[in-house]
Order: sequence, then structure tokens, then C-alpha cells
Amino acid sequence: MNDAAETWREWMRRYTTLELHGLSDLYEAIGQGITSDDELLRWLGDVAGPRSNPNLLFAAVHFRLLTGAFAPDLAPYFASITPGALPPAGPPPVYPAFRAFWERERDALAAILATRTTQTNEVGRCMYLLPAFVRVAARMGRPLAVVDAGTAAGLTLLIDRFACDYGEGRIAGDPGSPVHLRTEVRGVMPPIAPAPTIVSRTGIDLAPIDVQDDDATTWLRACVWPEHAARRETLEAAIAIARRDPPRLVAGNVVDVLPAIAAQAPPEATLVVVNTNVLPYFSAAERARYAAVLEAIGATRDLAWVAVEWPAYALEAGFRGSFEGIEMPSPALPLTLTTFERGTRRDEVLAVTGPHGRWLRWLLPPGA
Ligand SMILES: C[S@@+](CC[C@H](N)C(=O)[O-])C[C@H]1O[C@@H](n2cnc3c(N)ncnc32)[C@H](O)[C@@H]1O
Repeated sequence: MNDAAETWREWMRRYTTLELHGLSDLYEAIGQGITSDDELLRWLGDVAGPRSNPNLLFAAVHFRLLTGAFAPDLAPYFASITPGALPPAGPPPVYPAFRAFWERERDALAAILATRTTQTNEVGRCMYLLPAFVRVAARMGRPLAVVDAGTAAGLTLLIDRFACDYGEGRIAGDPGSPVHLRTEVRGVMPPIAPAPTIVSRTGIDLAPIDVQDDDATTWLRACVWPEHAARRETLEAAIAIARRDPPRLVAGNVVDVLPAIAAQAPPEATLVVVNTNVLPYFSAAERARYAAVLEAIGATRDLAWVAVEWPAYALEAGFRGSFEGIEMPSPALPLTLTTFERGTRRDEVLAVTGPHGRWLRWLLPPGA
């Protein structure tokens, strides 16, 4: 086994244990099979591009199935394709079916692994973005100009078009929206009012997804794990809203284009740069450049930087707060806010949040 294959083995093992366990039995079973499949691991090491990861392999397989690849053996395990799908443990177990599919599809899968990235555009993330925006608006006192860095289809930019339900009748956004998002608030209720006014919204992505294009949006569908029927329905409803009123998307590398996009934000607004689940796809050099770009923008105008990322990557991208002593059961992530206000910088960890915004633990005392 070569180094690249061993790296994939470890990567798949960690991903299966830390991220899939309890959330996708199907992918967990396939991931476990891959960790002891030397031939497949060697292939992964050979074909995967620089922005690939275990989740991209699953998305590539799902995409091929959703776009009609011949798979009478594997499709019956995918709840997104086959109602009443077979259990992955069998009988028969899923791995031999996955293996046979891979044998037939390896060239098509290799092309996807070499060229695409995971583009899970998860509107559930609005459940933690909203309290962060409310805090920014309250502190900095102006409407918001939001720039979403690594935006995919830009769906989270439509945050105020969704119903954000925090339980016990506390609904922010548009209560009548067909997109009804929920989160479990653990502990302190985060601030969700008054509703922040968003005066401009722009998304930046290496490969922005045009919501009007069915083929392009199928990639978004492929990135949703097969068992997650509710997420799939929410995604469809969010795409329908975006089709009527698409957000502005700009193609490019965030670290190259952000300065120009920031300069276009209305001067009377507070610029809010957001990145959620994007920094793992940056190289280390890009994370360092991102830190410098944010710092440079913050030196010229008021800026709020809102992020939900792995702590190590947030620090590499210039976050200066501390994660010490904050309980974060994997795969939970921190919600961080950095503000540059008249040249004064402040970094704080606002919350810890579960995958796809399923739960939220606000860390600041009420009224802080
Ligand atoms: C996992 S998706 C997250 C999408 C969105 N932020 C969300 O949370 O729903 C990561 C996105 O970041 C984009 N991306 C990765 N590196 C990038 C870069 N250097 N510049 C622009 N976009 C990038 C990818 O194309 C992809 O759409």
C-alpha cells in the first residue's frame, strides 16, 4: 500500500466513525467496507483531486445513481431512489453491491473525484446564522451586506425567506415560508429578534451552482445523504424559492475575489462575510491568505466575519479567540464571530452547533 492509499484508509475510518455514525447507516456500512479494501483505497489515492474527501466519493456515487447509472444491485439500498430501501447490513449486505457498482463505474467516478468538490448547500445552517446576524446588527447598528464565501448555490443567502423555528412558538424569518427549519436549542435561547435587514447578498464560489439548471441542482441533491428525506424536501423547497429570486453569485476563488466584492458592498451597511463548512476545501496557503484578506478589509471598513468551521481551520484562517474548555462532541462545530469596528477587533465563540444546524448551544449569557 502506498502513502496516498493509507491516508485515504485513515481518512475514511475517521469520517465513518466521527461524521457518519448515527447519521447515515448506509454510508457508514460502505465506508467501513472501504477501509479494508486495499484495491479501492489505492484507486482513491490515484484518482482523487486536491479538494476531494470521503464525502465526495459518496456524493459521486449518489450522483451517478440519481442520473440513471445502471445499478440494480446498489440502488435498492438508497432511500432517495428506492422507497423502503434495503437495510445496509442486509441480507444481503451492501458492500458487495457497492463493490460491483464501483467496478462498472470507476471511470465516471474518477472524473467526478478529480474535478468536483462537495457542495452540500444546507439551509439548516441558517438556524445558527440568524442569531449571529442579530448580534451583529444589534452591536453595529446598521443593515447588513452579506457575502457568503463558498456559497454553492447561495441558498443560505435567502435566510429571511425561510421560517426559522426555535421551538415553543419562537419563529423568526417568514413564518409562512414553505421552508420550515427547526433546531433544538440546548440551554440559553439565542437572540433571534429584531430581524436584521439585509440590503445586499452575494455568494462567491469556485463553481457556483445555477439554481435554474436541473443538472447542476442534481449535484446539490447528490450531496444530501440518502436517508435524510426531510433535508431533501427542504432543499427542493429552497431551490424553488431561489429560482423565483436567485441570489447574486460570483465565480472565483474567495481569496482572489473577496476584496473586490467587499468594495461593492453599500457603504451604509455593515459588511458580513460568512463561511460555513468551506475552510477544509482551502489549502493551508489559502487559509492564511483569507486571514490576511479579512484583516485588510477590516482595516478599511467595519466588518463582521461569521464562521462555522473546524477549530483548527478557523485558527489558521485568522480567528483569534479561544476554543479552550468548550465542549464540542464530534461532529459539532463552533460558531465564531470576529468584528472589526472602527479599527477595533474582537473575536468571540458564540455557540456550538450540531451537524446541519440540528441543534444549537448558545454560549453567551442572556442579554450579553
Ligand atoms: C461544503 S460546501 C458548503 C456550501 C455552503 N457554505 C453551505 O454551508 O451550505 C463548500 C463550498 O465551498 C466552495 N469552495 C471551496 N473552496 C473554495 C474557494 N477557494 N473559493 C470559493 N469557493 C470555494 C465549494 O465549491 C463548495 O461549493
